Amino acid sequence: MKLGNVDFDTYFKNYPSEDGYFGKYGGAYVSDELKAAMKEITDAYFTICKSSKFISELRKIRRDFQGRPTPISHLERLSTSIGRVQLYVKREDLNHTGAHKLNHCMGEALLAKYMGKKKVIAETGAGQHGVALATAAAYFGLECDIYMGSVDIKKQAPNVARMKILGANVIEVKHGLATLKEAVDAAFEAYARDYKDCIYCIGSVVGPHPFPMMVRDFQSVVGIEAREQFLGMTGELPDAIVACVGGGSNSAGFFAGFLNDPVDIYGVEPLGRGPKLGDHAASLQYGTEGIMHGFNSVMLKDENGEPAPVYSVASGLDYPSSGPEHAFLRDIGRVKYDVVDDKDSIDAFYALSRLEGIIPAIESSHAVAYGIKLAKTMGKGSVLINLSGRGDKDMDYILGLGNNAP
Ligand SMILES: Cc1ncc(COP(=O)(O)O)c(C=O)c1O
Repeated sequence: MKLGNVDFDTYFKNYPSEDGYFGKYGGAYVSDELKAAMKEITDAYFTICKSSKFISELRKIRRDFQGRPTPISHLERLSTSIGRVQLYVKREDLNHTGAHKLNHCMGEALLAKYMGKKKVIAETGAGQHGVALATAAAYFGLECDIYMGSVDIKKQAPNVARMKILGANVIEVKHGLATLKEAVDAAFEAYARDYKDCIYCIGSVVGPHPFPMMVRDFQSVVGIEAREQFLGMTGELPDAIVACVGGGSNSAGFFAGFLNDPVDIYGVEPLGRGPKLGDHAASLQYGTEGIMHGFNSVMLKDENGEPAPVYSVASGLDYPSSGPEHAFLRDIGRVKYDVVDDKDSIDAFYALSRLEGIIPAIESSHAVAYGIKLAKTMGKGSVLINLSGRGDKDMDYILGLGNNAP
């Protein structure tokens, strides 16, 4: 399949380019010292991803530790309540630790081990990436520092407890809005101070090259599995697939399995309280080109051109940019990006819980809400939604909001 001069038969060979670009987006905008550190990681990644020992170790981990492949569930009651379109979910909530994040954390920690690093560090928003990395660090015997904003520490308390039990140091970030962006700032600073002994295991397809590529590659297990499973279950491909986009890792990995297929692909960003700057975190919808955290992509900017304050009910979607590959896929028209607000995502959270017995993460609920909306417009066919995580971490917060609560 081709779109303009992008050939999806050879897409993964050509994107990103050697220096980490998806079209004009991506790259590595870091100091010369950190550029050398990024090159060391890139070289190590390209060496191990061709090594049969690394591939078989990662496959074994995926099967015996993570519990992969995760299943696809047919949402029969939810589909019937809407009409004729059949909705399905890829169950990343059943991946060990309850979200897709472990897919790239186990890969990144295995790489850290191969490179002889002693410590892994990262930021976290919803806490899912922090829990996943703390788990990977415990598995491989590495030290682990997790930077997390004070607001998210309060909102995602169960995940903070899990990180601590797993032996990670949770470092509170108090400045600015004290959410995901500030946590990334702090983790970057810590990495710049200590890059010889540690590796920054970034939590999404963001940051300088090679992270957007590496995290996508580790997450592509989701899309590859989902394509094969869906064909096995139904004998055909889904008509449409949907995933939520924060930094963009669950969506990048899920989409990777279907980019070369005649399948409509939708990425869903958080509209939060509405379209006013500061009330949402929909950078692909409302942002402009800009550089932050070492990469060029789309960005929500304030009046000084700095990253703008962002908001979403979902801590994991609360980021003023998105991965460079998403900006590229948007520009060439391969993926359509749209938005869902807090209210619709909370309604979807309850709908999936009560009609299907699956409590979704509030991040994933954005994708579920969009899948429902899409199904209502389609008339017939099938929609496969990536259920990126489970909602245990969100229950107290959502019940506390009172909306829709029983
Ligand atoms: C369950 C879940 N889904 C989605 C996301 C958003 O991240 P990404 O866009 O990188 O998949 C997060 C982030 O914390 C998350 O915890």
